[in-house]
Amino acid sequence: MVTASALLAAAALPLLAAAAPSQCHTWKNVKIGGGGGFIPGIVFNPSEKGLAYARTDIGGAYRLNSDDSWTPLNDNIGSSNWNHWGVDAIATDPVDTNRVYLAVGMYTISWDPNNGAIMRSTDKGKTWSETALPFKVGGNMPGRGIGERLAVDPHSNNIVYFGARSGNGLWKSSDYGVTWAKVSSFTNVGTFKPNASDPSEYQQDPIGIAWITFDENSGGSKTVATPRIFVGVADLGNSVFVSNNAGSTWTAVAGQPTGFVPHKGVYSPGENVLYVTYSNGGGPYDGTLGSVWKYNITSGAWTNITPPSPSGDIYFGFGGFAVDRQKPGTIMVAALNSWWPEGIIWRSTNGGSTWTSIWEWVSYPTRAEYFAVDASPAPWLFDPTVTDHEDVGWMMESIAIDPFDSNHWLYGTGATILGGRDLLRWDATPRNVTLKVMANGIEETAIQDLLSPPTGPGILLSGMYDAGGFLHRNLDVAQTPTDQFHLYFSGTTDIDYAGNNPLQLVRVGTNLQELASSNDGGVSWNKIYASNNAQAGTIALSAGGDIMVWSPSNMAPIRSQYTNAFTTISALPQGAAIAADRRNNTVFYAGSTNKFYRSTDGAVSFTATATLGSATTVYKIVPNPTLAGDVWVSTSDGLYRSQNYGSSFTKIGGPTVGGHFDLGAPKTSGAYWSIAGFFTIDGVAGVYRTDDAGVNWVRINDAYGFGAADANRVAVDYKVYGRVFVGTNGRGIFYGNPSCTSPPPTSSTTSVSTSRTTTPATTTTSSRTTTGVSTSRTTTTSSRTTTPSSSSRTTTTSSRPITTSSRTTTTSSRTTTTSTRTTTGTGPTQTHYGQCGGIGWTGPTVCETPYTCQVGNPYYSQCL
Ligand SMILES: *[C@@H]1O[C@H](CO)[C@@H](O)[C@H](O)[C@H]1NC(C)=O
Ligand SMILES: *[C@@H]1O[C@H](CO)[C@@H](O)[C@H](O)[C@H]1NC(C)=O
Ligand SMILES: *[C@@H]1O[C@H](CO)[C@@H](O)[C@H](O)[C@H]1NC(C)=O
Ligand SMILES: *[C@@H]1O[C@H](CO)[C@@H](O)[C@H](O)[C@H]1NC(C)=O
Repeated sequence: MVTASALLAAAALPLLAAAAPSQCHTWKNVKIGGGGGFIPGIVFNPSEKGLAYARTDIGGAYRLNSDDSWTPLNDNIGSSNWNHWGVDAIATDPVDTNRVYLAVGMYTISWDPNNGAIMRSTDKGKTWSETALPFKVGGNMPGRGIGERLAVDPHSNNIVYFGARSGNGLWKSSDYGVTWAKVSSFTNVGTFKPNASDPSEYQQDPIGIAWITFDENSGGSKTVATPRIFVGVADLGNSVFVSNNAGSTWTAVAGQPTGFVPHKGVYSPGENVLYVTYSNGGGPYDGTLGSVWKYNITSGAWTNITPPSPSGDIYFGFGGFAVDRQKPGTIMVAALNSWWPEGIIWRSTNGGSTWTSIWEWVSYPTRAEYFAVDASPAPWLFDPTVTDHEDVGWMMESIAIDPFDSNHWLYGTGATILGGRDLLRWDATPRNVTLKVMANGIEETAIQDLLSPPTGPGILLSGMYDAGGFLHRNLDVAQTPTDQFHLYFSGTTDIDYAGNNPLQLVRVGTNLQELASSNDGGVSWNKIYASNNAQAGTIALSAGGDIMVWSPSNMAPIRSQYTNAFTTISALPQGAAIAADRRNNTVFYAGSTNKFYRSTDGAVSFTATATLGSATTVYKIVPNPTLAGDVWVSTSDGLYRSQNYGSSFTKIGGPTVGGHFDLGAPKTSGAYWSIAGFFTIDGVAGVYRTDDAGVNWVRINDAYGFGAADANRVAVDYKVYGRVFVGTNGRGIFYGNPSCTSPPPTSSTTSVSTSRTTTPATTTTSSRTTTGVSTSRTTTTSSRTTTPSSSSRTTTTSSRPITTSSRTTTTSSRTTTTSTRTTTGTGPTQTHYGQCGGIGWTGPTVCETPYTCQVGNPYYSQCL
């Protein structure tokens, strides 16, 4: 690590052939709070008090802290191994509790070209090594909530098993996960496909091995391999298999139920019982029938212990299952998806002979709810104005009771982790537990757009899948329902503002006809009913705010003026990157492959004006926020700039590949904008910044990888120099400042060792295919191959923040040169929402009546 001052000095040097210098930054999450996505797995270590892990399907794994917060463990993962953010299984070692393992990989189908890997750590996930597998792993595939399909032998902890998808069978390591070999004696590798009648490869790939569970009481010695091992497979025939000789031979367990997929197989050491939950689907969204069974290992008897449904019939499968190790026979189970009227969790204190549920019908439509919700750690998750919400949750594949504390429990939903520390109140009279949001520190949202607005109440605006997006008034405080962009929208894919009237915004969303506008900087939104059947993609709003150009994901770009019906722009190809000039209302820009297009008639027509080298993709077009005709374009062939409305371009030295980027507050007042984004410079991919319009570059991502570069979004703060926002696909939003006060991510380097039995495929490469999404119940499969979108949003600053609106362009008859901002008195005054102070600020410090200058942070005071 180098100090900031040394780096600032280095940055001033001319660009050399060696890698661009790095400048230390402090990166942390922009706090949304509470997760924001599906939590497929939660595991407690049975031997070390307080040690637990959670995994996500697109954003890596986390470790629990004693204050109920979580520490991310995979923040160093970048473009070369982006699929490692898909965690299909996690195993914590019961013997050497410092050891933990992950099975990583995003998709087992063509969306993900990379094979999977087993990652292993000997320091609780601070640092990792890994072994490449010779096949793919599906952290974001159907069935990702079953499991865990990775397990450490509780007696001989050098032995680790992994159950693969896609018919690849059961694998075993005897050297702490360094080398792996297929268990050839295990032949029932699972034939169940998520949906055999859907032709898509996503629905056709077999889910494979579901879980591996050791009978820790079996065997005389606690130091040789555990003899009895159960393996569940996704199969509608026999699905539970057992070995009594440490994995040499396997048989189907006699008398087992068939017809469903076993989601969990949980061993209860105090009872010597294996509990199994079943669903007729692979999960996590489906399931219309299921059951819960208990297998008495001593007697060999199977007993159906399916809990009674509050409504009488079972219309769901069963997912998460937990045993209380302190109280043998105390168990809990969740309905995987009870969409209506509410998710269901049951608890039994007698091994499933009788159950109580978390709510019951009193008489329709009245229900007794034996819980209270505490959403204080992430208020946005429970909007009190929405009456038909599901408090208990959905996609409940994972429930865990702390093995050292019967009051402490956690469970994953499609949106967060709930649970609490008063679980024994379930057994008291009256029955009443607190469902608290227990996902502090987990930031799992999939960001589609970021915008640092020139003015208005927000520091940042975000668009994202599932949660919709937010107006961020504070970067470090959990979000509220008020500032969430959920109205009319399932997800927001792009936001843009009018250059001459920045409080005016438009945004587009993932579903058909999702288009809305705001006139107050994103506080309130109105649906625009002119949207044809377009969906998703990007939107550009003209400088004056009257013309919209929308480049949707499902059709060629379209145009509307005054919110009239959209018409097709025939000159532009589907998926084109688009942007509006920030000052000239008639000028729009577009790009696709290596073609640059311009419109000078308000997007009625476009003509190709220039060629962008050998680019195959235009990632983003960012016009200068205050100067017409000055425009920057990032492409697969580097970064280009035009200063003549796109008539011709200069290629910027340094970047060979450009991803998303932005222009923001300059280093010094009057200087050109600082520019930052995802670039490859001197062969090194990372986040880079230039303060001199591309002459010198400095790398600023430290040890952070941010996952797939081309799935990421960037905003450079309009007002605060050096503050850069990175939106990721599964790890939420980060912001970085040029300082070194906090440590780099806990994960550090990885080393690759290879399997001894098969040729391992190379880990990694491709960064050009981006990942998909997951999470909420409304998106089913989602957009997997997001074409790195495009442009439009932009943002940014001037050397002196402009203030709003058309007022600045109209010249009053009373003054010849400037506008209403120059008033009588001691000096210039700032308008509403404008900056009026902060470190380095040289502009007006007095606000126009009736506003006062209020300190937001040391760098920024605002007229409010
Ligand atoms: C399976 O796929 C078919 C064809 O796409 C679809 O009609 C059906 O609803 C799907 N079934 C489930 C359970 O999702
Ligand atoms: C399992 O079966 C044995 C033998 O019948 C019996 O003694 C034991 O109580 C059973 N265990 C449970 C948890 O029901
Ligand atoms: C449980 O507690 C909550 C909040 O204190 C209350 O609203 C609810 O009525 C209680 N439920 C029962 C069944 O007592
Ligand atoms: C805006 O651009 C158009 C087309 O290039 C040009 O004719 C016009 O003069 C420009 N307007 C301003 C105010 O610069």
